[in-house]
Amino acid sequence: MPSIFDFPDIYDAVLRSPLSQIEAETRSVRKLLADRGIEGGRLLEIACGTCTHGILLAGQGFDVAGIDLSPNMVDAAASRGAAAGVSLDVFQGDITDFELDTDPFDAAIFMAETFPIITEYEAIASHFGCVRRALRPGGVYIVDIDAHRAGVRESYGVWGERTVQVGDTRVEIWHEDFPGDFVGGVSRLVMHCRIHDDGDVHETRDDWHIRQYNPWHLSVLVRTLGGWRLSGFYSRGDASPDIADEPGFLLTLEAV
Ligand SMILES: C[S@@+](CC[C@H](N)C(=O)[O-])C[C@H]1O[C@@H](n2cnc3c(N)ncnc32)[C@H](O)[C@@H]1O
Repeated sequence: MPSIFDFPDIYDAVLRSPLSQIEAETRSVRKLLADRGIEGGRLLEIACGTCTHGILLAGQGFDVAGIDLSPNMVDAAASRGAAAGVSLDVFQGDITDFELDTDPFDAAIFMAETFPIITEYEAIASHFGCVRRALRPGGVYIVDIDAHRAGVRESYGVWGERTVQVGDTRVEIWHEDFPGDFVGGVSRLVMHCRIHDDGDVHETRDDWHIRQYNPWHLSVLVRTLGGWRLSGFYSRGDASPDIADEPGFLLTLEAV
């Protein structure tokens, strides 16, 4: 069955964060980079989707590239970059196994709480290895993580049923929580969309297994990976180090 990521316009309307939030996150990214001496240069957006953060950063002096698995997202990112008047290099590839034939990047970002869907240790280690090889020494990697304070979900439930109008297209949306794997530390969420488009109906189904991290887990994880130094956890809203009550936070790493 298709994924919501096969429909970039629908993704942007029903799942992507509001622009005001993306602007705030982008300000936080810029502050964290500037605090580490990076005020411009080459930046890689990981799992870029339609590259909304990257397009804002490209308009603020960064030379931006993106990588995403979905060919439709790659095409949409390129055309949105062009519409915004910025130049983007967008690559199609798997973020757990990629090698870019480019100059090294000064920074990389992975936004929209997507990193935790890489659940297996081998894939996580491979992902960090790929990003490390793409960065110059001293480069900075910022990863957006949902705090998931409730932990691994224990029960089945349907939630978030709604209908959204996207131009002439009507989209029915609902989510299913399944009991997660407590031992493995992973929750399971299925997102459904039924897209009514000019007499056609398309269904999407995304079955996400989501690792539940807190900052301590990530600190331990980073120590197991070669080539990185933990540079702190920060609020995605204002880049402050006070994340105790935040719904999510930015893991910040330096390439060594
Ligand atoms: C929730 S969206 C986030 C998009 C964008 N970063 C944003 O802020 O809106 C997740 C993106 O990850 C991409 N993705 C999922 N698994 C991937 C993988 N293994 N390799 C590359 N991209 C992947 C999807 O195609 C999708 O565009």
